[in-house]
Amino acid sequence: MKILAIETSCDETSVSILEATGQGDNLSFSILGNKTLSQIDIHKEFGGVYPTLAKREHGKNLVPITLSVLKEANMLIDSSEGKNEDILSIMDREPELQKEFEKIFKIKKPEIDLICVTSGPGLEPALWVGINFGKALSKLWDIPLRPVNHMKGHVFSFLVDEKLNEKQKDGANKISFPALSLLISGGHTELVLIRDWDNYEVIGETVDDAVGEAFDKVARILGLPYPGGPEISKLAESGKENWQVELPRPMLHSKNYNFSFSGLKTAVLYLVKDLGQQLTEDIKKDIAFEFENAVIEVLKTKTERAIKEHGIKTLVVGGGVAANKRIRESLKNISDELNVLFPGKGLSTDNSIMIGLAGYIDHVTGKTLTPIDEIKADSSLSF
Ligand code: KG4
Ligand code: ZN
Repeated sequence: MKILAIETSCDETSVSILEATGQGDNLSFSILGNKTLSQIDIHKEFGGVYPTLAKREHGKNLVPITLSVLKEANMLIDSSEGKNEDILSIMDREPELQKEFEKIFKIKKPEIDLICVTSGPGLEPALWVGINFGKALSKLWDIPLRPVNHMKGHVFSFLVDEKLNEKQKDGANKISFPALSLLISGGHTELVLIRDWDNYEVIGETVDDAVGEAFDKVARILGLPYPGGPEISKLAESGKENWQVELPRPMLHSKNYNFSFSGLKTAVLYLVKDLGQQLTEDIKKDIAFEFENAVIEVLKTKTERAIKEHGIKTLVVGGGVAANKRIRESLKNISDELNVLFPGKGLSTDNSIMIGLAGYIDHVTGKTLTPIDEIKADSSLSF
């Protein structure tokens, strides 16, 4: 089955074409085309993602990216079809996308069996661009459209190896159930119990800020640019233990699997205020190091406890923060018997390959397909 996948939930515009077969242990897939355009440089000056700007950029870039991905997959063939006003009207609220869409009328319907698009969670105006693009393609080419949960994409991103041009078939047989997914991104921090390919339960989540959000906010407090995660981890590399910058471990001993990171960020804010002129570059490094220590201790303790209580056989980690080297190392070492799986390098952050895979898994496990006119953006969509 050939799948066109679209992701626009935040600040990456991403489109890919996958060819997937089999299910369960036998799932395998090839990536026929893939392109992700990051808007980070545009949002940097605002210190975070600016939703209306994200919407406009997705609108400008989706069609060019799709055309280049179709070309990579050898599916780009010229045609002389005229434009279709009904299809264009789907994108009335996305003028940039509507204008670019004229180019789609000039190509032939590609051999795609399913279109998958992120429908949430994420920034609503950004999600709508991808959804309306998906609807327009689906109606124009008469190909079914499947809405996909972005977090489910992160759950299954462990299946994707960075060797993108090779057939991928080893990820699926590495997972044994029950599995646990630790999702750590800019918008979410969740522990998801996975009993089987189609059975998920969120057993813990953040009660306030997500862990990536805490990285970004702490970076801002320390005067570092957005996104803060990579900046903090770079600083922490040369940080050391320093009693002057001790930070709390919020909810470490609470009797549930929930997290809280807002107090940790506030503790850094007060610390920086108290230090005043004493905040040297060296102390900043120590704060970054201690901040990571606090995050690691909380994430690891809660994850370990869930693993014991639920008899977990495989831990899968996903979300942008999973790129953090020290967090990866600490999770790898939880226990010798536990299989711990991470996405390939560069694939923990948002991408459309994971959306195509999650959509394919929904398809083969028989998840009901929402009628196209009922598909809508849901900024707080959960499992
Ligand atoms: O999953 P993602 O790309 O987008 C969301 O769905 O939120 O995650 C982005 C988050 C940002 O908060 C970013 O600062 C964080 O992932 N991040 C990192 C690292 N690389 C990205 N956090 C810690 N260490 C990193 N190396
Ligand atoms: Zn994400």
